[in-house]
Amino acid sequence: MFAGYKIVIFLSVFTFGCEYSVAENQNHGGPEPQIPVVLWHGMGDSCCFSFSLGQIKKILEVHLTGVYVKSIRIGGSEIEDVENSFFKNVNDQVAEACNQLAQDTRLQRGYNAIGFSQGGQFLRAVAQRCPNPPMLNLISLGGQHQGVYGLPHCASLEHRLCDYLRRMLNYAAYLKDVQRKLVQAQYWHDPLKEDEYKKNSIFLADINNELTLNEDYKQNLQKLKKLVLVMFENDTMVQPRQSEWFGFYKPGQSVQLETLQESAIYTEDRLGLRAMDKAGKIDFLSIAVDHLQFTDVWFIENIINKYLSGNSFEF
Ligand SMILES: *[C@@H]1O[C@H](CO)[C@@H](O)[C@H](O)[C@H]1NC(C)=O
Repeated sequence: MFAGYKIVIFLSVFTFGCEYSVAENQNHGGPEPQIPVVLWHGMGDSCCFSFSLGQIKKILEVHLTGVYVKSIRIGGSEIEDVENSFFKNVNDQVAEACNQLAQDTRLQRGYNAIGFSQGGQFLRAVAQRCPNPPMLNLISLGGQHQGVYGLPHCASLEHRLCDYLRRMLNYAAYLKDVQRKLVQAQYWHDPLKEDEYKKNSIFLADINNELTLNEDYKQNLQKLKKLVLVMFENDTMVQPRQSEWFGFYKPGQSVQLETLQESAIYTEDRLGLRAMDKAGKIDFLSIAVDHLQFTDVWFIENIINKYLSGNSFEF
């Protein structure tokens, strides 16, 4: 059932992206003049479409003269990468990303990372699970660090896919097969079923140290120089959008929200976020636009100039 559905949808929706191809970066041999940047795209997107991350890559290369940008691609082609953003076990995707980063000689001294939407929580998993090469700053643009309990206007996606996702997530997110196969189920966080979430979420509950306490996760996350959490104030895609700042519904209901600082992850210091926050290592930014709808100017002024333009490894 999964496979058949998948093919129909992707042939009809995503064929427009096929023609774009990535130009390989030249390695000039010497030390990198700029700290490299690693990108991870969001749901329904790919590493390199010219209208999304391909464009971001160009902006980075212009504003950080010649910077090496690696945009993570999961799968053998851009179309597979898009498919995998819905249908591949996130733990396997993170392991694959870690492998790509470890094998990339140009990243060995460290890199800054920018996650787009779900790419934000995936890159946080990379920071927590794979400390080498070191991630320096992590910028999360609308990442859902406490998961989602709704994808209200899965607007840019095809209707049938949207309806299907919602149906699966509402009724079956925590079933083993759905967890393994549907990416969004792996960060589906049902506040009415906190225990079920903690026990059965194979990705988010694990990286958030919900059930067990993985000390490595805690230590590794704290190695970040900065964790930058960007929330889209007019986000109609992510519910609740406070998840982009690590907030969520208070357990047991789906109306009242709590901030990161009020959450158990923080008060029980399950991830080291309390220490990071007190040390001023978490920046909470917001912008009054819909999901990922920031302008190039905003991105240059608030992200590139503030967090990426230091051109040396000496901090
Ligand atoms: C966007 O969100 C802000 C803050 O929540 C609100 O004041 C503003 O009216 C919203 N803008 C639009 C266009 O919805």
